[in-house]
Amino acid sequence: MKPIKRNILLNPGPATTSDEVKWALVVPDICPREKEFCDLMDGIKQDLPRVVNGGDDYTAVLFASSGTGGVEAAITSAVPKNGKLLIVENGAYGTRMKQIAVCYQIPFTAYTLPYGDFPDVNQIKRMLEEDIGITHIAIVDHETTTGMRNPVAEVCKLAQSKQIEVIVDCMSSYAGLPVDLRVWQAEYIISSSNKCIQGMAGLSFVIFKKNLLGKIKNNARSFYFDLYAQHEGFHQTGQMQFTPPVQVVYALRKALDLFFEETMEGRIRRYRNNYEILYKGLENLGFEFLLPDQYQSGILLAIKEPCNPEYNFTTMHDYFYERGFTIYPGKGAKEATFRLSVLGDLYAEDIRLFLLQMKNYLDVSGIQKVAY
Ligand SMILES: Cc1ncc(COP(=O)(O)O)c(C=O)c1O
Repeated sequence: MKPIKRNILLNPGPATTSDEVKWALVVPDICPREKEFCDLMDGIKQDLPRVVNGGDDYTAVLFASSGTGGVEAAITSAVPKNGKLLIVENGAYGTRMKQIAVCYQIPFTAYTLPYGDFPDVNQIKRMLEEDIGITHIAIVDHETTTGMRNPVAEVCKLAQSKQIEVIVDCMSSYAGLPVDLRVWQAEYIISSSNKCIQGMAGLSFVIFKKNLLGKIKNNARSFYFDLYAQHEGFHQTGQMQFTPPVQVVYALRKALDLFFEETMEGRIRRYRNNYEILYKGLENLGFEFLLPDQYQSGILLAIKEPCNPEYNFTTMHDYFYERGFTIYPGKGAKEATFRLSVLGDLYAEDIRLFLLQMKNYLDVSGIQKVAY
């Protein structure tokens, strides 16, 4: 296996991948209608729920799309014509769920907070009590905008007490943070191939309760992103309805194998360790963070932008990019931030190298001491 130039991506996905995953893309050409490929897809479909303790109650459906496609599939397939969605919006990905609802004219109400505020489950409870038309709650687990872990377990518990279904965007938590469907019992969760599972971009997937299949049969508002049709098509033919990104599927197979080899505990531990090194290193350099510690997901930091006149995100980005590190701008959080994430095939030495470069950057840029 030839080594490939390794860039350290500190943006929250598409993440740094291993050489094994990169090389898994290089396969003999194959028509995705062949049994060999259908068997590969079937194995992936079985394994995706296993990552989150899905058990026999859950099934998975894949789409050739970025993660947003999966969210769109879940929302547009789950909410019936006479249903109503309550969307928890405390970051850009909550807002995106709202945009999907607007686009498809799905009735919704939003619990809107500044990006970086923690949702109050009692407020959600009040909203459900005041509007008995609400049938579904949509919430982001790890709000990648800010690094906040939302109170999904509590929301699921509340929803279950009221027979309301929950759709959870687990884009940047699946396979990187503890997500246990045995505990949540969420009806739908969504993620993609290129974040904590450490595969290549190009596939989204929805993991949902099998017993919902009858319910969603005639719900779809989208042709391509029809969860029921995609599930049934696969069940009957072993194929995706429309052309899959063949090589990306092979890379996802490899990524899943590597995940099970590392184990869930191992991956969480590695990410956590990376995070703690990053957190302490940045703190020592004088940086401050957007969120209080108790709300931090532990895999992404939204860092307050310094007030030094020498500070400029683009200049800092370019400095790091030239040295093989990719850093990420903020996304509308309640205070100006830039973001660094530790998800992907990253290790303690990568984070230490980054911190050394950050120290150098502060010196050469003239910032020296971070000011707020
Ligand atoms: C929480 C969350 N939801 C949705 C998305 C959208 O995914 P994509 O850009 O792959 O469509 C992202 C992307 O970063 C995300 O972090």
